Amino acid sequence: MAYYHLQETLLPSVPKNTKSGICIKNIQKLFIIYRGNYTLSGLCMKRHLQNEGSPIITIENLVKSFDETIVLHDISLTIHRGDMVSIIGPSGCGKSTLLRCLNCLEILDSGSITINGIRLARTNKKQPISKEFSGNAHLLRQQIGMVFQSYNLFPHKTVVDNVMLAPIVVQGLNAEQAREKAMIFLDKVGLSKFADRLPDSLSGGQKQRAAIARALAMSPSVMLYDEPTSALDPELVGEVLDVMRGLDRENMTQVVVTHEMQFAREASDYIVFMDKGELVEIIEEDAHFENPNDERVRRFLKRVQRK
Ligand SMILES: Nc1ncnc2c1ncn2[C@@H]1O[C@H](COP(=O)(O)OP(=O)(O)OP(=O)(O)O)[C@@H](O)[C@H]1O
Ligand SMILES: [Mg+2]
Repeated sequence: MAYYHLQETLLPSVPKNTKSGICIKNIQKLFIIYRGNYTLSGLCMKRHLQNEGSPIITIENLVKSFDETIVLHDISLTIHRGDMVSIIGPSGCGKSTLLRCLNCLEILDSGSITINGIRLARTNKKQPISKEFSGNAHLLRQQIGMVFQSYNLFPHKTVVDNVMLAPIVVQGLNAEQAREKAMIFLDKVGLSKFADRLPDSLSGGQKQRAAIARALAMSPSVMLYDEPTSALDPELVGEVLDVMRGLDRENMTQVVVTHEMQFAREASDYIVFMDKGELVEIIEEDAHFENPNDERVRRFLKRVQRK
């Protein structure tokens, strides 16, 4: 979500949020309400704002292969602070591999990834991994909260213990500090009442919200989600997406691999379409979603929307 500091003289009746700006998506809606008074369109504003926001993730010419098969071809993408970005595309096109490279779960062959000023660069796959590279990979991982389809909660630990674990082990908090912190994030995802339950006694949506709280407890700059709702019954999807919408309102940068086209369309600042390891098209506007430039995107959207 991009923020803009509106002048009160322009929109005296618009409530401001705590960041003294309002969501650009709301600005677009407000333009509909206030259309008569404005010459600037929502579309222009969005472009303007995206150019203004500072980049938090910069991917340059990223290549990744497994054995001899290249699965990411020369990907370049810049994501700005506070953006909510959805990544869509056919199965096997490289979406998870891209997220895994961002989180250093896979090491890029060549190109570079910069997250919050920490840069990982490599010229080719044969280049040995230096100490500096490993050190930067470690720092870069600390910038990122990752949420997987399968929650990955420890089943023998309570919900709050799951959330407390990394702050104790990685950040060196004592149990009391970690519990206090964990409860803040459990409250944020609507789970404070479930803190002392074991994960198996929770619904899939609740488990996924606990996984989000666990990632947030490490104070990441960026949240990455790999199909966070794919394992959920349809009636539980909404509660997880609502948590992500809430984080968007708080200006968290979020990158989501998703098959939830409606969510991608409504909640993202833009949608990245990938196919066969390539970044094919970036969809920024609703009209563009209805009428993509690339034939592959058109075919994919038709197929998924038929389902
Ligand atoms: N560890 C691995 N070793 C070998 N090949 C891999 C590995 N991980 C992924 N691949 C291959 O890389 C390609 C991209 O896989 P990836 O999981 O990134 O696709 P995806 O877009 O996330 O697919 P899906 O929508 O099904 O999750 C696929 O051909 C896959 O088989
Ligand atoms: Mg995947």
